[in-house]
Amino acid sequence: MEKSREQWHSKLGFVLAAAGSAIGLGNIWRFPYMTGQNGGAAFVLIYMIFVVLIGFTIMLAELTLGRHTQRNPVGAFAKIFPGTQWKWVGALGVVTGVAILSFYSVIAGWTMGYIFKIATGQFNNITDSRQVEEIFSQFVQNPLAAVGLLALFIGLTVGVIVGGVSAGIERWTKILMPILLGILLLLLVRSLTLGKGVVEGLLFYLKPNFHAVKIETWVQALGQALFSLSLGMGAMITYGSYISKKENLATCAAYVCIFDTLIALLAGLAIFPALFAMGMDPAGGPGLVFLVLPVVFDMMPGGTIFGTAFFILLTIAALTSTISLLEVAVAYFIDERNWSRKTAAVVVGVLAFLLGIPSALSQGASTWFGCIPLVHMPFLDFMNVLFGNYALTLGTLLIALFVGWKWGTKNAVKEILQGNSQFKFQSIWMITIRFVAPAAIIIILIYLICTGKFF
Ligand code: TRP
Repeated sequence: MEKSREQWHSKLGFVLAAAGSAIGLGNIWRFPYMTGQNGGAAFVLIYMIFVVLIGFTIMLAELTLGRHTQRNPVGAFAKIFPGTQWKWVGALGVVTGVAILSFYSVIAGWTMGYIFKIATGQFNNITDSRQVEEIFSQFVQNPLAAVGLLALFIGLTVGVIVGGVSAGIERWTKILMPILLGILLLLLVRSLTLGKGVVEGLLFYLKPNFHAVKIETWVQALGQALFSLSLGMGAMITYGSYISKKENLATCAAYVCIFDTLIALLAGLAIFPALFAMGMDPAGGPGLVFLVLPVVFDMMPGGTIFGTAFFILLTIAALTSTISLLEVAVAYFIDERNWSRKTAAVVVGVLAFLLGIPSALSQGASTWFGCIPLVHMPFLDFMNVLFGNYALTLGTLLIALFVGWKWGTKNAVKEILQGNSQFKFQSIWMITIRFVAPAAIIIILIYLICTGKFF
């Protein structure tokens, strides 16, 4: 007999947990620096097109698969077509989740470290952006700090997963997400009133320059949309498996996409004017928010308090995301291997930690991991591209093909219509899942294979 599966307490509970998964470092750390590296506004526009056309489509497909099968990703594919190779799509997702968890937690460790740095006034009275760069690079080059914070952060994630996600996380995200939004708005106001450079920053962020668009821009924008929405590896299959049959899946999917995009757009709007006002380089890469925000905080009254609060909240936003990354592998071991929740969480957590060490050491602590042969980039950046971009893109393609062609849109729509007397975008969704999403990804993959420009 099947055990009855745990469920979210309410629609709001689901939306918050799923938005908690989606909203994280992807919005506030990754989105701004990717935008900076890819020429600004045109990237933002392409990003938004992908969120609407592919993000929403896949979000709904994943939630539907999860609720229909009531399983983790591997189990979900295996349940619909037992004995076929489709379960490997789920397996790819489980592996991708652990890999993303490993490097994501390194960055989350930095945000945790920044709480103390800002609180103890290390960024006070900054006169020159080079000073911040100095503090940042010394910090991430310190192997003990980097690995210690990584361990601490994964430990926190494991702790929450062992304790059960529902009440605690559901309740806390409800309180903390609005506060994060509030602080973000405050930052935005400060940033927009910095004077010199603000207009330049806004133009960079809001006025598309299509000459800057290359094929790589499209690849990166799609990867970023999937990453930010937690798609392509079954996190939303897993979260969908806890949604009640009474809920309207299409609106669930829409809410998560809207919240996530809103936060990313606001983060960019707060960061770019400040960046230009400080005369910093928008293409600076992964260190971007760690260099810009401390300066902005230093320039506002009460900056130490707001800055500290901001990094606390960012750490929490990251935690609600890592929870979902870990939960996928944990649900797999519970459902398919009969492990206890605790064993699964601890074992996967240790694995992710070990895999995270090279990333933690790759930002200056070790020359060895600092430049991976062939791709010529630090290990962390390599993992970020390989799993945070390509594995998710491939996973998304396979999920779209599965739902659109193998399982079939008719079956999917039947599941979507439970708890939902009408599904407004039904015919559009049937087209996007069958044709638009796969075609876009296949075009990108063919381009990458032909040009060899993978990294
Ligand atoms: N979406 C999260 C962020 O933007 C990160 C994340 C959580 C994620 N779960 C995921 C990314 C699953 C890809 C797949 O910070």
